[in-house]
Amino acid sequence: MYINFWYPVCLSDEINEGSKKATILGMDFVAFRDHEGVAHCLSNVCVHRGGSLANGICHEDGTIACPYHGWRYNGQGKCTKIPSLGPDAKIPNRAKVDSYPVIERYNIVFAFLGDLPEDERPSLYEIEEYEAEGWRANQTTIIDIDYNYERSIENGLDPAHNEFVHPTHGFSGARNDYKVNPTKITKVDRGADFEQLFDAAPPLDEETYGETARKSDGELTVWGGYRGPNTLITQIHTKKDSNWFHQYFFEQPINEFKTKIFFVNMRNWLMEENLDEMIMGRNMEVVNQDIEVLDNLRPVLTPPTLTKEIFVPADLIIGEYRSSLEDFTKKGYKIDVKKMKETQHQTAYAIPSPARKKEKSWVLDPVPLVKSK
Ligand code: FES
Ligand SMILES: [Fe+2]
Repeated sequence: MYINFWYPVCLSDEINEGSKKATILGMDFVAFRDHEGVAHCLSNVCVHRGGSLANGICHEDGTIACPYHGWRYNGQGKCTKIPSLGPDAKIPNRAKVDSYPVIERYNIVFAFLGDLPEDERPSLYEIEEYEAEGWRANQTTIIDIDYNYERSIENGLDPAHNEFVHPTHGFSGARNDYKVNPTKITKVDRGADFEQLFDAAPPLDEETYGETARKSDGELTVWGGYRGPNTLITQIHTKKDSNWFHQYFFEQPINEFKTKIFFVNMRNWLMEENLDEMIMGRNMEVVNQDIEVLDNLRPVLTPPTLTKEIFVPADLIIGEYRSSLEDFTKKGYKIDVKKMKETQHQTAYAIPSPARKKEKSWVLDPVPLVKSK
């Protein structure tokens, strides 16, 4: 798991009535809106006696109050009130929690969990067609999975599994001439894009898709890629027509073994609102086919070296993803999970926020990181 990337915290709607707690990268955060409706994300641990801010109340002065002794924190993480000191008391400089940069988009509250200054941060992935004319988005959907997010991203990049895992996306190994075409890869900042040609698009069944169901004689191109460790892009285009599906997974690693996927599903056909449910239902069928396989992978986490697996040319983009993760480790972004776990009952950690580069006096220790080589 890596700091210094954008992570989905919760849906925008989930903080309209109060705060929302999220566990990300093994640590707790709270998202809430201030009195002007601006979303914030703070480290959830109150620096007085360790209360959970998310269990407290959002006040009209734009702060969230700890449920234990009522200390109030504003969106910047500064403590503005310590009730036990009485009114007009001076607040010590150390009374602050980490506050993370937030962007709300696609009905998701994203936080940049890390301490990079603004000019060094990656940008949040931009879905260009979102809210564009001629495109429709399904309501952003959360999928809970019981496995590591890297396994999930690798599955989404994997061009060779469709044929065998998804009966509607391939021919289940029945075609004698089946093979995976070469993958074209383009590196981008902290990620990569790929282009993958599938020789024959399997038919969409007419019962569901009506007369617009496409036939199996066309080629299908998938553009996709990843950004950082946790964002997956899949754009499915048929050659014959311009009926496209674009899918985006913004993944929230709760810890090494549990993940929440924030799924944004776009299309430029079948535009009627009443088709949303059917289309999401179809997508969830496909997602569940992946889950069934991924739930049973061993080892549970990706092996540490390439020697404990076999890579073939169809795995090229997965190899690229692994090498990006190595780059992030070299940059010093990787959380030392072993060390964190050994000490987690005595120590509450925080992901260092950008303010730590400018200010001193923080109560919580920064999360241990794997030393960069
Ligand atoms: S623990 Fe939060 S106010 Fe005391
Ligand atoms: Fe799949």
